[in-house]
Amino acid sequence: MSSATCALRSQMGQMDKTPLFGLGISIACMVVSAIVVKQYFSKMPTGCAFVTQPGLVGLLLGALPEMWKYILRYEAHSGLAEYHEQEGDTLYFDFGLLRYFMPAVVITRDPRNVKYMLKTKFDSFVKGVTFHTIGLDLLGDGIFNVDGDLWFKQRKTASQMFTANRFKQHIWKVVRKNCDKVISLLRASQEPTVDIFNVLNRFTLDSIGEIGFGTDIGSLENPESPFLGSFDAAQRLMFIRFVLPCWRLLRFLGLGPERHSRHHMQKLREYSRQIVVRLSSSLDTPAGDSFVGLFMKSGSNYSVEFLVDLVLNFIIAGRDTTAQAMSWCLFLIMQHPEVEERILQEVQSVFGDQPITYDQLFQLTYTEAVLRESLRLYPSVPMDPKCPSEPETLPDGTFVPRGTSVFYNSYAMGRSTNIWGADALEFRPDRWLNAEPKDPYEYPVFHAGPRECLGKRLAMVEMKTVVASLIKHVKLRLAVPVDAVLPDTAATLGMSSGLRCYVEMR
Ligand code: HEM
Repeated sequence: MSSATCALRSQMGQMDKTPLFGLGISIACMVVSAIVVKQYFSKMPTGCAFVTQPGLVGLLLGALPEMWKYILRYEAHSGLAEYHEQEGDTLYFDFGLLRYFMPAVVITRDPRNVKYMLKTKFDSFVKGVTFHTIGLDLLGDGIFNVDGDLWFKQRKTASQMFTANRFKQHIWKVVRKNCDKVISLLRASQEPTVDIFNVLNRFTLDSIGEIGFGTDIGSLENPESPFLGSFDAAQRLMFIRFVLPCWRLLRFLGLGPERHSRHHMQKLREYSRQIVVRLSSSLDTPAGDSFVGLFMKSGSNYSVEFLVDLVLNFIIAGRDTTAQAMSWCLFLIMQHPEVEERILQEVQSVFGDQPITYDQLFQLTYTEAVLRESLRLYPSVPMDPKCPSEPETLPDGTFVPRGTSVFYNSYAMGRSTNIWGADALEFRPDRWLNAEPKDPYEYPVFHAGPRECLGKRLAMVEMKTVVASLIKHVKLRLAVPVDAVLPDTAATLGMSSGLRCYVEMR
């Protein structure tokens, strides 16, 4: 090396490096800021009403505190329905800086958007990673929590369960027997009031146990079933996790709403595991013809964990939704004696003094109208999330980036004056009589398109049988003020207050 080069090196070594260093830091900061800002805006849906709060709270947390206020007051669904009336059919709830930790949430009640998501772009609007992760510890890889081939295979096998023959030979007998148990239980009750919501949950749990896995759960006989409390807690978490920042960390630490989540999930899985083990040793009995029995006999080598997922998915599908729908229906009937009288007349004219039969069930057109009407006002699945696997523009012009949680809001749709007219909030079963069939995308209470509810017919059979039998044999009266009956804030629309009634046999 020449002496000149050595001199240059030593000069450079002595130069002040601070400005260069500062420049480097500034460029790095600018690049990071640009990425952060780009991320901030790229996650942001546009073209619909923007819901946030003013000031610093809005900047940091967006609409989250407001959402939590409604959730804690059990007013999440009615609050949202009001927001829609005031702000528009499609709402983007901003979460301020928390946007980095939570998926963006868009909620729509526009039937054109619903059709686009559930039918036109079915393959793009999937359950997605957010829903799958939130539901993983409860639903695993069961039908509610998966997409693509895994979903299609389960749907194909499960749909074999609902043939006309199975309904007549097996399903109807289970429904009839458990409905008789409900009437006997009410007749024998020594208590001044009965929580009908609790009784109906036990009815649907025992029915799905027998139809779904050939298991006699026996909760109508023994109300202390370990299942009930843990199930409700798990369902509540499924809803709350969408608006709970860092819920996974909270679960890991066992804090806040996630305090007991591991305990509940373990209890549910353990109980379901026992059902699977019992069922696997009795496949050559009638239990082999149950939902889960069909999966076990299908030739595919399913793991025990997957069968546990199936049990839990079918219990959620078959228990909660139907018990809730019947309870809200009875809640409305109790406030409308003229509707009760018309059901009673219809039941008398179809069955007289004879027991209710499967073939005649279809003549209960008014009772069916009452059930449809109450599901309009109290849909068991009030909001259903989808997630676009690529950026999408909905028919109303809303742009939704990939990964946004887009909910369609059945609860708000049922109360929308745009869809139902000025009397949307009125309970009026007559609107269903002699009317054109309703567009399923305007009334998506059973979902619609390729993922339409598989148990719609079973639900209708159960609900008509129970409501008709109860009205025939029992006079129910609310034992609490109407506004003391509160909805739950969970994935499905339960009653956090229960439904306390005076019961008088007719
Ligand atoms: C009033 C009662 C019911 C209502 C309102 C209802 C509503 C719904 C809704 C909204 C969905 C779509 C959920 C989603 O996006 O994942 C659904 C799916 C489903 N329901 Fe129901 N349901 C009821 C009763 C039942 C019953 C009794 C069963 C019987 C087991 C059942 C089985 C299913 C299944 C298996 C699916 C998943 C379908 C799929 O993803 O392909 N449902 N139901």
